[in-house]
Amino acid sequence: MAESQRNVLDSFIYEEPRTSLPVWYVEEGLIGQEALLSHFNPGRGAAVAWRMETQKGDPRPGTGVPALLLMMEESALEFPKGYVREDFVIQGLYAVFNCCTHLCCQSGWQFLPRERQRTDLGYDTVYCPCHASQYDSRRLEQYRHPRGPRGEGAEYLGIYKVPKVGPANRGMPLIPLERDGDRIVGRLKDPDWYRYQKFRRRNL
Ligand code: FES
Repeated sequence: MAESQRNVLDSFIYEEPRTSLPVWYVEEGLIGQEALLSHFNPGRGAAVAWRMETQKGDPRPGTGVPALLLMMEESALEFPKGYVREDFVIQGLYAVFNCCTHLCCQSGWQFLPRERQRTDLGYDTVYCPCHASQYDSRRLEQYRHPRGPRGEGAEYLGIYKVPKVGPANRGMPLIPLERDGDRIVGRLKDPDWYRYQKFRRRNL
């Protein structure tokens, strides 16, 4: 589904993962394809591009913004008051704007075997390979950016930053979701959610 004026896709397209470990969506031949709800089950995650520009209807590589799709057991996912769960979580699936709040590196899902993730959570975290910040895949939390384009930074819903593990000090923002049958589309809650660390993307 494209935004007619800007020719930007609001669906998510699988990207090459940055790991040498085996990855399910590579094995299933899905790179460059649209992510569908039926591809996921609890424990699966994927690196995707959101808001890609199109050319003759096809996504143009390199034009999207980085995101992660993760599916957890619904009952295991902590969600804060003040936001509508159904706006962000579909059958345990949620989307993270993948720009580490330390220096904006792209984090990953199962980049490392769990025993090397160095948390005592007992399950996989979202791991930033640059300076080892980690984010709790089962907990969503409200945050505020310390500054923004118009002064005080935006309040946002994010994936929980594991305290004292790496230098990032707050979570990465979530992308609101909508379901269209088996399709998943990302909605832009507030562009200021995604503007931090002087980070700008053309399609936000
Ligand atoms: S950029 Fe992620 S920990 Fe530094």
